[in-house]
Amino acid sequence: MATAPSTWSPTSWRERTALHQPVWPDQAEADVVRERIAAMPPLVFAGEARQLRESLAQVSAGRGFLLQAGDCAESFADFSAVSIRERLKIILQMAAVLTYGSMLPVVKVGRIAGQFVKPRSSPTETVDGVELPTFRGHMLHGDEPTAAARTFDPQRMLQGYHQSAATLNLLRAFTKGGFADLTQVHLWNQEFVASSPEGRRYETMATEIERALRFMAACGIDLAAERQLHEVDVWTSHEGLLLDYEQGLTRRDSLTGDWYDCSAHMLWIGDRTRQLDGAHVEFFSGVHNPIGVKAGPSTSPADLVALCEVLDPDRTAGRLTVISRMGADQVAELLPPLLTAVADAGHPVVWVCDPMHANMFRTSGGYKTRRFQDILAEINGFFTACRGQETWPGGVHLEFTGDNVTECLGGSEAVLEDQLNLNYSTLCDPRLNARQSLDLAFQLAELMQAAADTRP
Ligand code: PEP
Ligand code: CO
Repeated sequence: MATAPSTWSPTSWRERTALHQPVWPDQAEADVVRERIAAMPPLVFAGEARQLRESLAQVSAGRGFLLQAGDCAESFADFSAVSIRERLKIILQMAAVLTYGSMLPVVKVGRIAGQFVKPRSSPTETVDGVELPTFRGHMLHGDEPTAAARTFDPQRMLQGYHQSAATLNLLRAFTKGGFADLTQVHLWNQEFVASSPEGRRYETMATEIERALRFMAACGIDLAAERQLHEVDVWTSHEGLLLDYEQGLTRRDSLTGDWYDCSAHMLWIGDRTRQLDGAHVEFFSGVHNPIGVKAGPSTSPADLVALCEVLDPDRTAGRLTVISRMGADQVAELLPPLLTAVADAGHPVVWVCDPMHANMFRTSGGYKTRRFQDILAEINGFFTACRGQETWPGGVHLEFTGDNVTECLGGSEAVLEDQLNLNYSTLCDPRLNARQSLDLAFQLAELMQAAADTRP
């Protein structure tokens, strides 16, 4: 990638309008916290972000898929080794299904170790007759419905930094220290999933993988010596929303002299903050990480091409991922013109489908939810649109959890509307539970396999 325009600096975003930022009660205190974060070690290294960019370049060329997934909003309260391990398990399990199904590499990126700030459609909400600031993520304030808890507190940026550091530390240990070893493929199936139809299907596949490994060993291949069988790369990502925090973690790489946002390997710009002349686009135009941008129904082809031009002027493969989130009923109409416009402009972007964010609705009981069928329908529509425009369907962006939650409706043993209250624990948007995720993975694997089989 070429260097940023000469007008760019880690603070140049301050000249632009920054939407969805907190107004800190004490700006001076927030500045002090940002300076403290700026003096702390980076969470990730520039070289890692470059490795991810290279993997994504392979995806953009049709030689792999991206699985980007995790919580809608991570929680300061749900922070333990078990919770991190369970989230990793479901990533590894889904990735195994997708890799085995498509026979192509799957690049694994978590919404983890930094996904603590949310844009919200309304600044306030009414709880028990009291109007309060809407909950916007644990890095800004508490979720309890009281005015005191909802007051923005910049010290929480420090807590977010430390929780991200500890989460990353454990992720690195798990992924490089044996837990992600392919010989453990059976262990990633959770007990409460194992007896379900998709759990049993997974067991069958895991046994086939084990047999393939034994076959390779019998042929004389020294499996112990093959690093790829024993370690995986799971990269981190979050929405780069809170610019004070992102600026604080932005460092110049000593090897290349380029700027990187070292809060995560990959950052994305949300659908509400992708204004061409806005602060978020300005900030992320100058850092060299792989960047994602969400594209919702209001994205015109001209908007998107202009965004690609600003975020990836040099057309570097792997730099830019466009995350389409159109809704099951609109994807067939709205996505093809975007695919054509970006291809005509020569941008080698990775196209990804987020089938979650445009398929949300509220039940009469007041729960925010999504239907499994709508999620699947949007993914199907995405693959169909890509096939129609001869574009590689690069992957998916999902909200899920390893827990047995009841937040999304449907699935093979359907979660029903009157069961949502059984275990509805998300801080923000409804997530697929472990069984729904696995179910989705098998259906997705078939689409990926078909795409891989017919690719030029
Ligand atoms: C999200 O990914 O949680 C989110 C808020 O998405 P979007 O910007 O697409 O609405
Ligand atoms: Co969400």
